[in-house]
Amino acid sequence: MQYACSRRISLRACQRNRGEPRPYAVRRLGRLAAQLTIAVASAWLGCTAHPQDSQGGRTAGLDQWTPDEKAQLAAMRLTPAATVNVDPSNRVAASPEAAQLGKLLFNDPRFSRNSAISCASCHHPDKQFQDGLPRALGLSEGVRRTMPVVDVTTGPWYFWDGRKDSLWAQAVGPLEDQKEHGGNRLHDAHVLQDHYRRSYEALFGPMPDLSGLPQNASPLGTETEKAAWQKLDSQSRAGVSRVFANMGKALAAYEATLRFGDSPLRSICRWCE
Ligand code: HEC
Repeated sequence: MQYACSRRISLRACQRNRGEPRPYAVRRLGRLAAQLTIAVASAWLGCTAHPQDSQGGRTAGLDQWTPDEKAQLAAMRLTPAATVNVDPSNRVAASPEAAQLGKLLFNDPRFSRNSAISCASCHHPDKQFQDGLPRALGLSEGVRRTMPVVDVTTGPWYFWDGRKDSLWAQAVGPLEDQKEHGGNRLHDAHVLQDHYRRSYEALFGPMPDLSGLPQNASPLGTETEKAAWQKLDSQSRAGVSRVFANMGKALAAYEATLRFGDSPLRSICRWCE
């Protein structure tokens, strides 16, 4: 029985069912995809299992490709960004000392409600700073996939929907997100003061006096934390929020140092041109 190929059935399966030959462009794309898969696999195997054979095998494969196919392959590779945006709202954005502090904060679980979640829990250094899960898992499962935190200083917006316009403003978000760290800014200021005071003050100047303040308070936390925040005077609130923003600035300085590593596709593409 003849039936029309619609978008509900894949074009390829449909044409196979109708016994039609696939169009030239589809055959060619299919061939390129198959070659790419084989090349990536052989490059990976070559790099890990047979280093002595790998170069000859890769070059031989690429010799059979047309210039057009090599150009298509080259267009798919990730290259390091040519320009890095300078953030005028973060004066320590390029400071190595701030990046050093930021790295410690990035890996420190004491800023979370259960003392078990750090930025690195979702942004693993060995997975291009993401987690490979369909949806992020912090204190509970989130609604979106974790983004990789590499080459992040090149774009103007952050998050999948671009709702933040600076890296440091992005960085403070997860700390008070109830599904991620579930922390609060006054608790974070206490942890900074107890464990990082010297490096913090060398970068940002004296910390405010937190001695008479409660342990937990935030305008975005639980109902108890919000009530505690309301009870603080405006000077204390401003001081704590400044410490919190500076924490984001140190985290941003560290994130600015993270770059894409090498990939099998990039290794192959050294022979593309
Ligand atoms: C529970 C997992 C989780 C934790 C913990 C977490 N993140 Fe994320 N991160 C995500 C998810 C999910 C997104 C995307 C969220 C969205 O778009 O709404 C994201 C997005 C980002 C982005 C945006 C990247 C881009 O290109 O726009 C940056 C930067 C980032 N996180 C840094 C951090 C920092 C810094 C911390 C620690 C203070 C942190 N994250 C903690 C899951 C996490």
